[in-house]
Amino acid sequence: MTTLIINIKELLQVRESNILKVSGSEMAVLPTIKNAYLVIKDNLIAEFGPMKNIPQTTFDKTIDATGKMILPTWCDSHTHIVYAGNREQEFVDRINGLSYEEIANRGGGILNSAQKLNETTQEELYEQSKERLEEVMRLGTGAVEIKSGYGLTVDGELKMLRVIKKLAQHYPIAIKATFLGAHAFPLAYKDNHQGYINLLINEIIPQIAKEDLAQYIDVFCETGYFTVAETEQIIEAGIGFGLKPKIHVNQFNSIGGIQSGVKFDALSVDHLEVMKTEDILALKNTNTMPVALPSCSYFLSIPYTPAREMIAAGLPLALATDYNPGSTPSGNMNFVVATACIKMKMTPEEAINAATINGAYAMDLSTTHGSITVDKKANFIITKPIPSYNQLPYAFGTNLIDQVFIEGKVIA
Ligand code: NIG
Ligand code: FE
Repeated sequence: MTTLIINIKELLQVRESNILKVSGSEMAVLPTIKNAYLVIKDNLIAEFGPMKNIPQTTFDKTIDATGKMILPTWCDSHTHIVYAGNREQEFVDRINGLSYEEIANRGGGILNSAQKLNETTQEELYEQSKERLEEVMRLGTGAVEIKSGYGLTVDGELKMLRVIKKLAQHYPIAIKATFLGAHAFPLAYKDNHQGYINLLINEIIPQIAKEDLAQYIDVFCETGYFTVAETEQIIEAGIGFGLKPKIHVNQFNSIGGIQSGVKFDALSVDHLEVMKTEDILALKNTNTMPVALPSCSYFLSIPYTPAREMIAAGLPLALATDYNPGSTPSGNMNFVVATACIKMKMTPEEAINAATINGAYAMDLSTTHGSITVDKKANFIITKPIPSYNQLPYAFGTNLIDQVFIEGKVIA
């Protein structure tokens, strides 16, 4: 099946296949072709270029994109979209003055979601989660990472990861799975932290490896959650079973989690709302992608990741949603890109790079996703007619997506 798309007002994020991420000042450049064509063959990008070079062969289908732009689908490298129920009541409690921390200390927060998840069957969890996956696909996401971490029991964690695996089998979107058993200490281990860590290391991680349920290992490295030493212990055990680290660090406090991530060659370190100069310096010249989650900052009213300082220091930066019931009940990458521009002062070019090629890198997917490149997946968004791509973050509340293609097929 071949499709030719003609008269594309501007084809965004066209890259050679050797570009796997962009860093520092490179992030300000978004390569594009104006008045372009794009050819897709089955599930892949076959060819593209300016309209004057349009191929003179026949195609099964032709689409006229006059006035519209095309960009690669968003690569959302940090989500928790497999969860049960919601936490609307905590949202209202926060409006009425309680803090996220106070709610967690009362046994709400992650433990509240864990209780709901453990009371939900695997089938029901799949049904609830697939709604969110379909929602984010319609919003233009073509690759997504999903974490466990609301089970906090052997059965609960494995249930979550099996649901993620089933989603990956049933949907065309690329899905990467992360084991986040170290998301919080469950009540049963409140006074026996090492006991819970032993459970993660000796029982759950080996079973995950046996069933091939995850590619990554995550830890919530934060005051009141997992210490740096505990984080390192868990990460090391995961690495021993072939899981690469991607860790939650510096959300509320800078306690050395970034340095641990770098030490263990983490694929990414995520959140980064609170960054010391030494944290930024630790990330320089490493393979570790820093990931900012501006919707979380927005929803919790906490600081935004200091993107300008990080980019000025030469670092790359990726943007992701953090879609989860507690801190970010939204999987809208369009909002993430807009918020990064509005609140973090990223330029539209930087934000689009961060949400596509750098997001793909943070999932080990940048050889197949994240840019308009020959032989990459035919995953792209056709916008509605727009005057320039600046409109995407500028009109932050407007849905500017006309169609989403994933693996060469339109998502309804
Ligand atoms: O990334 N920070 C840790 N975990 C999630 C939120 C967890 C929750 O509140 O359910 C996050 O923000
Ligand atoms: Fe998260």
